[in-house]
Amino acid sequence: MAEDIAVQMGREAAGGFGAKKYKPLVYIVAFTAALAGLLFGLDIGVISGALKFIAKQFSATTLQQEWVVSSLLFGAVAGTLMSGFLSKKYGRKKTLLLAAVVFSVGALFSSVSTSIGILIGCRVFLGLAVGMASFTAPLYLSEIAPRSIRGALISMYQLMITIGIVIAFLSDAYFASYFKYHDVVGGHWRIMLGIIVIPAVIMFIGVFFLPESPRWLVLKGKGKRARQVLHKVRTTEEEVALELEEIETNLGEEQAGWKMFKSNRYFRKAVYLGIGLQIIQQLTGINVVMYYAPSIFKSAGFASTAEQMWGTVIVGMVNVLATFIAIAFVDRWGRKPIMFTGFVVMGIAMCVVGLAMPSEADIASAAGHTPVTAFISIAALLIFIIGFAASAGPIIWVICSEIYPLAGRDFGITCSTATNWIVNGIVGLTFLSMLHGLGATATFLFYGLVEVLFFIFFLIWVPETKDISLEKIATNLLAGKRLRDIGRKA
Ligand code: BGC
Repeated sequence: MAEDIAVQMGREAAGGFGAKKYKPLVYIVAFTAALAGLLFGLDIGVISGALKFIAKQFSATTLQQEWVVSSLLFGAVAGTLMSGFLSKKYGRKKTLLLAAVVFSVGALFSSVSTSIGILIGCRVFLGLAVGMASFTAPLYLSEIAPRSIRGALISMYQLMITIGIVIAFLSDAYFASYFKYHDVVGGHWRIMLGIIVIPAVIMFIGVFFLPESPRWLVLKGKGKRARQVLHKVRTTEEEVALELEEIETNLGEEQAGWKMFKSNRYFRKAVYLGIGLQIIQQLTGINVVMYYAPSIFKSAGFASTAEQMWGTVIVGMVNVLATFIAIAFVDRWGRKPIMFTGFVVMGIAMCVVGLAMPSEADIASAAGHTPVTAFISIAALLIFIIGFAASAGPIIWVICSEIYPLAGRDFGITCSTATNWIVNGIVGLTFLSMLHGLGATATFLFYGLVEVLFFIFFLIWVPETKDISLEKIATNLLAGKRLRDIGRKA
């Protein structure tokens, strides 16, 4: 069997994304799972443009605004933790369907909220869907995708998140200008939040027609149906037989996440590494920009809503485009060189944002003109986004999906994904207070300088996982190699 797998892997390595033909259903599956990424991005992105109008309508304090942003993220933590259980008991497909329902209901209810408290409650609920989607969609994808394009699909999933964010920014900008010209008061944010019902319903319909994950079917003793599904998504009988055999061999081990965490210190180290990686991803400060871009543009001296909204759209577009850099180079240069470059770019850029950000006195003395330093700080902000999108954005998710042995993969991914949302929430909850309390310069310098620590973290603990099989990484880890060496072939 090991030989069969080696032959199969060799064949796939020679194939790649474009060289081999896949059944059409594979693309439909990829698109539908990517819709979950799109919704994830829409819900993250929509708030930056809507916040201003929400704050105005409910006369919200800074703390209340921070809760409007962060409530979704705390819901997402709960959603991630629930998904481990739901997707094991009821299946990946049903969990995704549930996520689509919660997305629709949550979007609808938040758009008709009559108080800030109700809105915060609705966003916690919506967060459940975001958490469920962020756990289940990549898991489902990894279980159903042909091995040779699995890596590409994880990065594509991140790409869809960034597309979701930019669509939300665009829709916010459009509705902000539309209502300005049509002089409609108070309704802006309701439409911004409510329109997300449409992609959520499309996701529900799409997922409804998807097959269940073959791996879950085997887990539930439904081997015959698993075989039928595999026939729909694999090209040859040989592939189907080989994969069924692999699934069955791995299943026995895979039940052991928590037990393994308690009993195996090497596995524990991998779990801590995954948690550390997601803390790093969030503390780069990316979501400070994603959630509060219009406020940052305002602090920089761009006074009109239109400037702030369209500036935010540019941020979102740069985020999408730069993701392609990672997709193109992650398997050529390797994860670590890209991450090191990313940290240097992000660190310098964040410091420049902070140092160049004009003070209120500068803005006042510029008498209606935007000061030159404002342009410098915004240019640096865009360079920061490029640094993130080309490195930490996709690569942290990729490494987190590579470092756990199969036996503890669900458990490890639950821990690292939940950490992503927790730290995401903390950043969202503290940024405006930092900005108002410490001032823009100190706040951005803080985010810039922590990149140095992350650089050191990568140097000491993170393995290079390019060009090595997941089985080999697992063997190295469980044999007690240092974390940074578990990606070594020899
Ligand atoms: C992060 C999100 C972030 C997004 C921005 C993702 O990888 O996990 O927190 O908003 O990238 O593109």
